[in-house]
Amino acid sequence: MDSKALLDVVRTRRSVRVYKSGKVSEAQLEMILEAARWAPSGANTQPWEFVVTRDREKMRRVRRIYDEEWRARKREDPVNYKGLKKDYVGDVSVLVLCCADPRTMRVYLTTRQPGDREKLLQASIANSVEHMMLMAASMNLGTVWVSVRDEVKDELRELFKVPEPLRLLWVMPIGHAKAWPKAKPRRKIDDFVHEEYYRAEKLRRDEDIMAWPKK
Ligand SMILES: Cc1cc2nc3c(=O)[nH]c(=O)nc-3n(C[C@H](O)[C@H](O)[C@H](O)COP(=O)(O)O)c2cc1C
Repeated sequence: MDSKALLDVVRTRRSVRVYKSGKVSEAQLEMILEAARWAPSGANTQPWEFVVTRDREKMRRVRRIYDEEWRARKREDPVNYKGLKKDYVGDVSVLVLCCADPRTMRVYLTTRQPGDREKLLQASIANSVEHMMLMAASMNLGTVWVSVRDEVKDELRELFKVPEPLRLLWVMPIGHAKAWPKAKPRRKIDDFVHEEYYRAEKLRRDEDIMAWPKK
């Protein structure tokens, strides 16, 4: 096993939001999905379902759905929505809609609290998404995690015929990055690791947390 190579992939992965044309081959897509297949999941429920499309027209519609939602939010809150665009969502070689089957939560026989079950479900899907992203990054392909907010989920559900009771959680474009983005800052290990017991002096102040994305 080449741990260094794996760490390189982990460090190299970026959220790619500007893509150029270029195909993700079937062989590449298969490896990406194979990586998802091996993700750990709560009670090995494997609750993921992926709708995969290469259809340009559907992608254009996805893009429009996100654009319209963004414009609506911007009208309500021009400060926080300023300058951000979502037009990367549907401008790629492959679009993967990441869904969860909540019926798998019934298998968590020893996890009774709804919040705990929800955590297992969401974490399991997140693992599969991250596996795919790392595999894509190892092939020099870009991906980005795109949230499916309540405001867009019904339209996406209809477009891709996602049946109830499945939940649509994230959309993941896969494609060739126009330029590989610069790394965003990461906290130092020492800042978030606490040996033996939690070091209260390291607990971040509210101001530090709020200031973080601007650094
Ligand atoms: C659960 C989750 C949801 C995210 N949702 C979005 C999103 O809706 N749109 C987006 O552009 N990026 C989204 N991101 C990507 C993050 O902004 C990104 O991972 C973070 O800023 C770090 O940058 P990096 O991925 O390039 O290292 C999401 C990431 C995660 C883990």
